[in-house]
Amino acid sequence: MPPRHFYFAALLLSLSAFDLSAEITYSRDIAPILYQHCTACHHPNDIAPMSLMDYKSARPWAQAIRQAILLKKMPPWFADRSIGHFANDPTLSEAERQSIVAWVEQGAKEGEPKDLPPAPAYTEGWRIGKPDAIFDIGEDHLVKETAVDEYVYFTVPTHFTEGHWVQAVELRPGNREVVHHAHVSVVEPSAPKAAIHTTTANKSFADYLLRTSDGLRHMRPESPVVNDACGYTGPDIDRLRIAGEGALGSYLPGMPPDTYRSDTAKWIPAGAQLRFQIHYHREASNAKEFVTDRTRVGLIFAAAPPRYPLRRMDVDNDFFSIPAGVAEQAVTQCATFNADSLLLSITPHMHFRGKDARFEIQRPGQTTTETLLLVPQYDFNWQLKYLLQSPVFIPKGTRLIMTFHYDNSANNKFNPDPARTIRWGEPSEEEMMSGWIDYIEAPACGFTCGASN
Ligand code: HEC
Repeated sequence: MPPRHFYFAALLLSLSAFDLSAEITYSRDIAPILYQHCTACHHPNDIAPMSLMDYKSARPWAQAIRQAILLKKMPPWFADRSIGHFANDPTLSEAERQSIVAWVEQGAKEGEPKDLPPAPAYTEGWRIGKPDAIFDIGEDHLVKETAVDEYVYFTVPTHFTEGHWVQAVELRPGNREVVHHAHVSVVEPSAPKAAIHTTTANKSFADYLLRTSDGLRHMRPESPVVNDACGYTGPDIDRLRIAGEGALGSYLPGMPPDTYRSDTAKWIPAGAQLRFQIHYHREASNAKEFVTDRTRVGLIFAAAPPRYPLRRMDVDNDFFSIPAGVAEQAVTQCATFNADSLLLSITPHMHFRGKDARFEIQRPGQTTTETLLLVPQYDFNWQLKYLLQSPVFIPKGTRLIMTFHYDNSANNKFNPDPARTIRWGEPSEEEMMSGWIDYIEAPACGFTCGASN
């Protein structure tokens, strides 16, 4: 028979593991959860409005934290958890959620500072480490006083005399107050201009666009309408825009910088230029202030050529039309993979009227589809990239099917104007329908092929 103190120890163990009426303290129980799931954004000078790095800063937010945890608003995550597994899913475990809620309900006590685990260290500077090369947009850009939204393109030379494989990319906004999101892509020295956008009617994509006085591009209202591009068989418009081989990296609300798997990298050839696309967004309330930005990108080079070049496919439908007041307008777009591939990540992109997004694949010769990602309640304020936990093998000939819905009704609280028919356009008040896909061309065994040697 075990000695008495065995039972006592077992009782203590079960109390601390399961009994939430035991006293929960910040130092011992809560700080480790916040360090793991929250402080990456909630530390000074990052995207969240307040720091949760220590008791003094977290305590005033206790009720708000409880609320955010109960409503599952934080940490931000928008994929349907019953479909697929994602490497960057920050969701708290049920036990962690219960601890936080019980901590607040018990009065959000501090406990013993000696119980605190070491706090994570966040570098003030580059998150990817010291870059091998840094490029900025070449000027202190004066963000227009009156513009609530501004898309600006900057093209700068790399002066690379030889090509480089890039392992990590970090875009750092010069001014976080006004940079909503930004992309940087590679312009190859001899890139053919807009070759992808030619149409059978010999019109280029640009012919369908209007440029307003603020420099932003919009779909012309009289352009053909194709909401169901997957089912479209008509001859005369370029319904499928697939581009993006040059995309290098993005700064997106809520997303860490791009660090590629060690066996992949992106190629920048000698003489290439870098093209920044920056979406500036100003609150109308501070529209009178004088605001400048000088966004930079830092690159880390791969030590050796990668096993698989990382590729990106941008799948867009730019010919949709979303009638005024409609609560659920479906828009589709499809693309076919023309080589055996491994799919690594998916990023849906819409604006304020975006409602939900589904990404399915249909393998060649099959009639059924498999959903890879469903975002049931899209939120423009969070542009998340969903990193597949395990790469999905896509045999050559597989069709990617994207089905997005838009809510242009007055019930959509983000809708700036339910009385207008909406088409493609760069301002947030217009819409987009894009899926950004990271993939490599590789056989089914992919990264593990020949791993034994
Ligand atoms: C990816 C970045 C990110 C992560 C991770 C994150 N937050 Fe946030 N949080 C934000 C941003 C940005 C805001 C302000 C915008 C908003 O409220 O949507 C915010 C707002 C909040 C608010 C205020 C909500 C309100 O009612 O105004 C609370 C409370 C909060 N976060 C708690 C947490 C907690 C607790 C965690 C971890 C369990 C967490 N956050 C993880 C970025 C993040």
